[in-house]
Amino acid sequence: MSKTVTARAHTNIALVKYWGKKDPKLMLPQNGSISLTLDHFYTQTSVTFDSNLNRDQIYFDDQLLPATKSRRISRFLDLVRQQSGAEAYAAVHTENHVPTSAGLASSASGFAALAGAASRAAGMNLDNTALSRLARRGSGSATRSIFGGFVEWHAGHDDASSYAEVLQDPIDWDIQMIAVVLKATRKPISSTAGMARVVKTSPYYPAWVKTAKTDLKRMRRAITAKDLTTVGQIAETNAMRMHALNLSAQPAFNYFTAATLTAINAVTDLRAHGVNCYYTLDAGPNVKIICAGKDTDVIKTALQRHFAPEQLIVAKPGPGITFTETE
Ligand code: PMV
Repeated sequence: MSKTVTARAHTNIALVKYWGKKDPKLMLPQNGSISLTLDHFYTQTSVTFDSNLNRDQIYFDDQLLPATKSRRISRFLDLVRQQSGAEAYAAVHTENHVPTSAGLASSASGFAALAGAASRAAGMNLDNTALSRLARRGSGSATRSIFGGFVEWHAGHDDASSYAEVLQDPIDWDIQMIAVVLKATRKPISSTAGMARVVKTSPYYPAWVKTAKTDLKRMRRAITAKDLTTVGQIAETNAMRMHALNLSAQPAFNYFTAATLTAINAVTDLRAHGVNCYYTLDAGPNVKIICAGKDTDVIKTALQRHFAPEQLIVAKPGPGITFTETE
């Protein structure tokens, strides 16, 4: 048996979103993106390459996944074997401290932790830039989860130039997110299939790529200026443009539930009453509210008219990937 490496990576929520690939094989995005890594949600994954195994064994919260459900992970391990020269199959133990597949970016923390643990267990010693490129091959948003704080993923034009880096970490000003965790129904369409359909069929796609570029520039400036209002405004508009792409695809699809719209309207209402808060949402029903920590209590109280207290989770900016190793 060789060494076991454990990695912990946190989720990130995009403020300027990735929604469309220009190269599906290399996972190169159509546009760059900017995110905030969160402290509250993370994935912890341990990997051991073991020549006694006759297939990869993937345990999810201590349950062994059947091969049919672990193909995407095995394919990613194949890439690590190919890059490292390791030949053995791997035992992978994953604990997900994120509501899975409900648009709370579990694939981001999941593939970031897997990339970190698997590459180190296979004897590769990647720096964080190279690790972010490797994580990208598992899931686009994982590219950013290698780093803490505000992170930018540069779209790039090939494998070497498409990676993430820190924009600001640590963050010494008051910005937090409240995750409104709604009932995790099955996704109507995966993010991979949804974004591919949008690129192919939405007549508005070229406008998305163009406005995303402007959003990136403005978002970088707003983060440097520590300007919560501008960060929130850009993020909210950018999120709704992404969802407008889905509504304009052929056939159209959406990730909203009735509760999603209730949460969105509650945020808009709070703002009309002078509370500085904004929403964003990803490929799932959950709404994330961008606000200052000093306002989280008033926002939670207002949202509790519609949602149970345990559905409202406050998250602060979170750290980059960390590792522990055992022989
Ligand atoms: O990484 P994926 O394939 O799950 O794509 C997720 C894309 C969004 O979360 C909707 C946006 C983003 O930039 O994270």
